[in-house]
Amino acid sequence: MGYRDKINLLKLPRHIAIIMDGNGRWAKDKGKLRIFGHHNGVLSVRDVVEGAVDLNIEYLTLYTFSTENWNRPKLEVTAIMELMVSTIHKEIDNFMKKNVKLNAIGDLDKLPPKCHKELNNAIEVTANNTGMVLTLALSYSSRLEILHAVKIIASKVNNGELNVDDINEDIFEENLFTNGMPNPELLIRTSGEFRISNYLLWQIAYAELYFTTKLWPDFRKEDFFEAILDFQKRERRFGMTSEQVN
Ligand code: FPP
Repeated sequence: MGYRDKINLLKLPRHIAIIMDGNGRWAKDKGKLRIFGHHNGVLSVRDVVEGAVDLNIEYLTLYTFSTENWNRPKLEVTAIMELMVSTIHKEIDNFMKKNVKLNAIGDLDKLPPKCHKELNNAIEVTANNTGMVLTLALSYSSRLEILHAVKIIASKVNNGELNVDDINEDIFEENLFTNGMPNPELLIRTSGEFRISNYLLWQIAYAELYFTTKLWPDFRKEDFFEAILDFQKRERRFGMTSEQVN
């Protein structure tokens, strides 16, 4: 019996976020260039998306490119952007078949025009799909997102639209890039690093964290199912006692 069959379909996380890490090391281990790892990482993305759709997960958010990733060697950045363009283009049919709605969060204006255009096109084409929302965090950092929200809120206070005393968690969340999405209940990170790396810091306040030593190109839907099973074994107390939540 595989992990898939052991999952309780009534206790699924609504939103799963993933830090896809280890592409470079995976390629290096094989004596290949880092981009070979990214290309194989796309196969993992496809497989995990398929697994998430199979389970009817509502939201899947993938850390695809951080604001810090712009500092990588130019050759690698260009290659990742080109990979993004070709992948998004190729996946549109698949998204339509699987009823997946594509979404993106981050400083998207920083993306090369070709990439931005391809992304916008895929978002537009899949806009009426009613199944899973697949969000790519691109040129994303959580601090950037939080600062962006603070600036919008401050300007609303400045022009009298909002009172300082009325600022609450709901108002703050409405001004994050993830507005309208439930907070992730499960955050998965591959490659054996125990870091959050500036990802969804506000949103993961109560997320269950799952770390695996598998490098992203080796991570497949069976690993994804294993993470969900692990999540289902945990007791989520939200600051309360075990007796209260049970
Ligand atoms: C992290 O591994 C991976 C990235 C920064 C890029 C991830 C991008 C893809 C898998 C392409 C996906 C494309 C779409 C459209 C979803 P790393 O390079 O940081 O690995 P390392 O830590 O071993 O160096």
